[in-house]
Amino acid sequence: MTLLANDLKLDVTPLSGAIGAEIRGVDLRDPLDDATIRAIRDVWLDRKVVFFPGQDLDPDQHLRFAAQFGEPTEGHPVIPGIDSHPEVFEIDYTASRELYASYGDISTRYRGIHWHTDVTFVARPPMGSILRAVVVPPSGGDTLFSNQQAAFEGLSPALQAFLSTLTAVHDGQAQFKGVFDRVGEGKWEGATLSKLEPVEHPVVRTHPETGAKVLFVNPGFTSHIKGLERPESDALLAFLYEHSVQPEYTVRYHWQQGTIGFWDNRATQHAVAGDFGEQHRVIQRVTLRGDAPV
Ligand SMILES: [Fe+2]
Repeated sequence: MTLLANDLKLDVTPLSGAIGAEIRGVDLRDPLDDATIRAIRDVWLDRKVVFFPGQDLDPDQHLRFAAQFGEPTEGHPVIPGIDSHPEVFEIDYTASRELYASYGDISTRYRGIHWHTDVTFVARPPMGSILRAVVVPPSGGDTLFSNQQAAFEGLSPALQAFLSTLTAVHDGQAQFKGVFDRVGEGKWEGATLSKLEPVEHPVVRTHPETGAKVLFVNPGFTSHIKGLERPESDALLAFLYEHSVQPEYTVRYHWQQGTIGFWDNRATQHAVAGDFGEQHRVIQRVTLRGDAPV
């Protein structure tokens, strides 16, 4: 479909019923005018994740593109950025498997990365993440995204009401303790972190731009739900995790080198399919500042 915004034409192709769109007809190397930024943001809020194939941005251009939609963060609280651009961090999946294996992180049990929402283990998790596909394996290595608004809306009113009363604890220690110990200190929101402290977020958050209710727990970082016995919390979270990533709430995206992917981190989970064997896969990411979930 073609979306018209003022005199602007963006080619927007939805990728599944619930989530995802490809956007063509815009060159992200150039500064964007206000109408284009608004049009992209509207599609992004509606589709939750948008992809721009055929782009070829360098880290400068990647960072400049991101800064038109929000304030770039330090990149990641634990993983250092690339030398030339601290706000841009890179994951080389081949190298990191070997590197992280020596730290004992649970992430290294997988060739890909299990379902999660980025950096929910801080008080103000990121608003969005902008990924550049730097090295794409010839086969495999897709990223899956789920729409957590649709997942919430797919629950019964009774369970929606109960979940809306709950608070969850999010903790980055299990995933990142090994990396953190190795790196020594992290940086986030201008502060130096000496350790990762657990934080609390509502199980259901209200999206600050759309007003929609969104399920906001993820198996990457949510440790438990407050006020429930541990077996109750474990069982409820296990149900929500399975429910959240049913095919009808998801899209699976195959990258091309240079494609830019931009997701709303307040309303999605994502996972990297670990099906690319020993083939090389490298991404770089810029992460935008978010607010405290309410
Ligand atoms: Fe992620």
